[in-house]
This record gives sequence, C-alpha cells and structure tokens, in this order.
Amino acid sequence: MTIDNLNQRFALPGHIQFKEGPGGLAVAEIANAHAEAMIALQGAHVMTFQPRGQEPVLWLSRFGKFAPGKSIRGGVPICWPWFGPHATEAGFPGHGFARTVMWEVKQTQALPDGASFLRFGLIETEATRAQWPHPSTVELQVTVGAELKIELVTCNTGSAPFQLGEAFHTYFQIGDVAEMEIRGLEGCTYLDKVDNFARKTQEDAVTIESEVDRVYLDTAADCLIDDRRLNRRIRIAKHNSLSTVVWNPWTEKAEKMGDFGPEGHRGMVCVESGNAVDNVVTVAPGATHSLATVIGVEALG
Ligand code: BG6
Repeated sequence: MTIDNLNQRFALPGHIQFKEGPGGLAVAEIANAHAEAMIALQGAHVMTFQPRGQEPVLWLSRFGKFAPGKSIRGGVPICWPWFGPHATEAGFPGHGFARTVMWEVKQTQALPDGASFLRFGLIETEATRAQWPHPSTVELQVTVGAELKIELVTCNTGSAPFQLGEAFHTYFQIGDVAEMEIRGLEGCTYLDKVDNFARKTQEDAVTIESEVDRVYLDTAADCLIDDRRLNRRIRIAKHNSLSTVVWNPWTEKAEKMGDFGPEGHRGMVCVESGNAVDNVVTVAPGATHSLATVIGVEALG
C-alpha cells in the first residue's frame, strides 16, 4: 500500500499520519497530547517514543542502517517466532523474521483518553512459511499515550501445537551506562551468554561495566531502570512473560557490529520482556497467546 493509500485509510488528524521515514521505510508518525512516537511498517517496529516534556525513552542508533530487510538498531525489534538462533536451522535469521518483514496496518483509533492505538498484522509470504510452517496469525497492538503499551498476539490457527519464542527487544535510552542500575531481577537465575551459558544467580540490582548478555529465567517481575544521570526511572511492566533479557554489547562487540557509533553502547541498555530458552510457550491448536509490556517514566525519588 502506498503512503497516500495508508493516509486515506488510516490517518487520524491530531494522532497519526504516514510518511516516508529514514531509508525510505514507510512509518506511522504519532503525535498526540501525551507523546510522540514513530513506528516502521517493516517489523511493526516502534522506533521512537517520547512522552511530552521527557527525554526519548527508546534508544535509536544514529548510525543505524535503515534498509528493507535489515533490522533497525534501536527502538523495539520484535523477536518472533523464536528468540536467538533457530533451534535446528543455522541459516534462519537470529531472533526470527518478524522484525525484518513487512506488516500491514489493520486498524487505527483515537482513544477517549487522548492516546493513539494502532494494530498491525504480519504479512505471510512463501519465505515466512518456509521458516515457520505452522498455521498461525500474529498481530502487534501499540498504544501511544503517557505510557507505551505493546501487545503481541499469536494465534494458532492449525491443528497441532507449536512452540513459540518471543521478545520485545527494547533498547532504552539512558544517560550513561555507569550511572544506572536495573532492579527487579534480584534472586533470579540467569544464563550468562558471555560465560558459556553458565547458570548463575543475580544477587543485587544489575549494573553494567563490561559486555552483558543474560537471559533471566522464570521471572514475571516488572523491571525498573534507575537512571541517575537523567534523574528518571523507566518502569517496564510485563504480562505473560517469564524471561527478561539484559544486553549491552560494550565497546568491542559494538565496534564489530558497526551500527552503534563511537561509544554508542554507553547510552543504551536492552531490557527485553519475552519467553525464551526454558520459557518458550506452547500454543495449543485454536489458542491465542498474548505477550504485553507497558513502559512508563517516573522521576527518580
Ligand atoms: C540479544 C541477545 O537479545 O540481542 C544477544 O541476547 C544479541 O546475544 C543481541 O547479540 C543483538 O542481536 P541482533 O541480532 O539484533 O544483533
């Protein structure tokens, strides 16, 4: 659908309009009384979210490559229908294909409280079916208000159960990685990917001073990012999620990845709500599974 068609069918004055974004990607631009946001139709990728009067909540690399079929470095990439490498097929893309394929807009709505609502559906193709042969639908529902609410709804439309891995791979903007801590994971078991997947226990709040790549397991807890530099707390509530991934590539890996920019890793941390490794979800035939997160900002007390 062209940008003109999108605007004719789904634009809402005072809320949502469609335009060509970075790299020519089609985006929905949301601006309402509460916040501003931008969502790319490729990946149904929430790229930015900024409540009025606040610094941006999501980190988006200034050095990222915005191109068809390439995952955007920042915002909220959707990992689906698996997280990390595929269990058996080394050639399939890491974190699944949802973040790099096109989604269609299915609905837009101005909500009574002044928030804006958008619903996207992943467009199935031969290529997606080749990697995910299970009859299913997946939708992303995004509500942009004073808080950002994202819901990923997977429906098994087939006659056999399937296993699903998923995550909101959210990049949060922080003042400086040395001046923040993540709370909510104290006492949890995690797989330490930078130590050969060793199983460890998180004793205190998470602080970061080198590469961190951890999958916290069996945790339904909300997380808080306490940012002393920006004097704010980001609250990450989640629903139907038992895994939380914390990731910062640190200097060397960020340099190798090439799209962080100099010292880019210092201004970001990924805190990802999802279901991964031990916590993959079995979706029964006819059943619907919904993963959700609500992201808000508060002053640091
Ligand atoms: C994290 C993984 O979720 O995503 C890391 O735990 C990975 O291992 C990171 O490096 C980034 O992945 P990608 O595919 O977006 O470069």
